[in-house]
Amino acid sequence: MEKIILTGDRPTGKLHLGHYVGSLRRRVELQNSGEFSKIFVMIADAQALTDNADNPEKVRQNVIEVALDYLSVGIDPEKTTIFIQSQVPELCELAFYYMNLVSVARVQRNPTVKTEIKMRNFEQSIPLGFFCYPVSQASDITAFKATTVPVGEDQAPMIELTREIVNRFNHIYGPTLVEPEILLPENAICRRLPGTDGNAKMSKSLGNCIYLSDSPKELKKKVNSMYTDPEHLTIDAPGHLEGNCPFIYLDAFSRDEHFAKYLPAYSNLQELKDHYTRGGLGDGTVKKLLLNILEEELAPIRERRARYEKNIPQVYEILRQGSQQARATAAATLDEVRSAMRINYFNDTDLISSQSALYTKR
Ligand code: TRP
Repeated sequence: MEKIILTGDRPTGKLHLGHYVGSLRRRVELQNSGEFSKIFVMIADAQALTDNADNPEKVRQNVIEVALDYLSVGIDPEKTTIFIQSQVPELCELAFYYMNLVSVARVQRNPTVKTEIKMRNFEQSIPLGFFCYPVSQASDITAFKATTVPVGEDQAPMIELTREIVNRFNHIYGPTLVEPEILLPENAICRRLPGTDGNAKMSKSLGNCIYLSDSPKELKKKVNSMYTDPEHLTIDAPGHLEGNCPFIYLDAFSRDEHFAKYLPAYSNLQELKDHYTRGGLGDGTVKKLLLNILEEELAPIRERRARYEKNIPQVYEILRQGSQQARATAAATLDEVRSAMRINYFNDTDLISSQSALYTKR
């Protein structure tokens, strides 16, 4: 069976290193692997509006930020269809039919939705659109017949619900939809890169992010102020690795070649870690290495971003064409869905002729 990817992000802010190790880097690898016949990456503006109804301008302004981040990390519009969710209205119609296949209780049990309700202070009054977003996400996935959905762990309940909807739909209306599989990040660091302050999560509201669009100066400042080991007061003191940001980031980014290039006294990360825990290695050396490695990784991203920033109309043109392609695919699936549900009245010659026979007999 052909393999198809669909994934996406809500445009509520610029993307940061956590997004990069958690999903973007992988998407580029998957894109270039040749394993997938089609790849769709969606800017989920409509979903972002479900919990930003009072701040649509934030969503509107961040569509371009996310698009620039995609293009700058190497998502290639020649290979990957990048599109804007709201520009594919077929997704709404699918969601409308899928809602009949899901109970309120089923959505109420969704742990990601539960957490978000608390975070957004929606306990008193949940916007109906927000409550339905897991169902709309099932439309996003099934409209493209996605077999593979690369996302973080927090999205697992959405994929599970999508599979249930697919099964329910196919059972009632006949085989039509494709059951997707989740593709989780490879390892723990990729699943959750901590913030520069040592907080478990990199998040805009905590102000502990390194953005893909940060300048070399901002990057340097952020690396130099990273949380390390508060008990490592002198260079000679033995240091601890647990929760030590520069080392966690090195786990995510360093390769043996980096040591030959930037810190040849060590041949790999393990040697550096051993020296640190033994004592005699200062945080400054570790941070300097990390800065060199991050700069090497981010410089080409920054350069590509600068090129696209100079041509914003071209970026919108990429999104327009992507949305047009996505729309054609979603429309084809919607046609199949309508036929399976037998609500394609005007093409249903059997229905028309059997009813006319019935009524002329009387
Ligand atoms: N819920 C996802 C997020 O918050 C965004 C998203 C919307 C998505 N539709 C999707 C992800 C479909 C994967 C597949 O990041």
